[in-house]
Amino acid sequence: MKGIVFTEFLEMVEEKFGYELVDLLLCEESLASGGVYTAVGTYDHGEMVTLVTNLSQQTGLPVPELLRTYGRYMFASFTRSYRPFVERATSAFELLSSVHHYIHVEVRKLYPDAELPHFTVEQPAANHLTMRYESERRLSDFAHGLIEGCLTHFNEKATVVQKKLTSDGTVVLFDIVKD
Ligand code: HEM
Repeated sequence: MKGIVFTEFLEMVEEKFGYELVDLLLCEESLASGGVYTAVGTYDHGEMVTLVTNLSQQTGLPVPELLRTYGRYMFASFTRSYRPFVERATSAFELLSSVHHYIHVEVRKLYPDAELPHFTVEQPAANHLTMRYESERRLSDFAHGLIEGCLTHFNEKATVVQKKLTSDGTVVLFDIVKD
């Protein structure tokens, strides 16, 4: 997993819960990197699971809720650090439809070792988009937050429903219906 995912996560923890909690999370002995992350480095995906699980224990908030909050935070950060990708789209559906065939393709060019999910997008009606998420990393709650962050960015309102297509959470269908 790319370092930016870790650095943004820790920034969110600091902003929402304070630096003491960041310090506590990074002291965890099982972190292979020793809790030192740079934006361009690559780290084991398991370290993010450890950080989020510990944050959940410390705050009493469920892991899915924390991943969703983090997704919303991350999208806002992408609008700053990857502005050209975001500005190319004029609506949330346009951006969401371009994640797999454009944005993540460009991300892969920048970071050849990026671990990215697979999306299949369909638009059954003008106000209805479906996104089928597939990834071994089972981060659909993070995807849910990114979708919500994208809607907020374009000032649009929609209902986002997540349906698990496999019990292990590797395949999830998002139904996004604009209000
Ligand atoms: C400007 C917009 C976006 C940029 C620049 C971007 C970039 C990235 C980057 C750098 C990663 C980390 C790869 C790694 O750690 O190796 C990532 C992962 C991910 N992205 Fe995007 N992304 C964008 C939009 C989105 C949107 C809108 C969604 C959801 C619909 C999404 C879904 C995900 C998910 C779920 C992952 C985690 C990896 C996984 O589940 O396998 N991304 N993206």
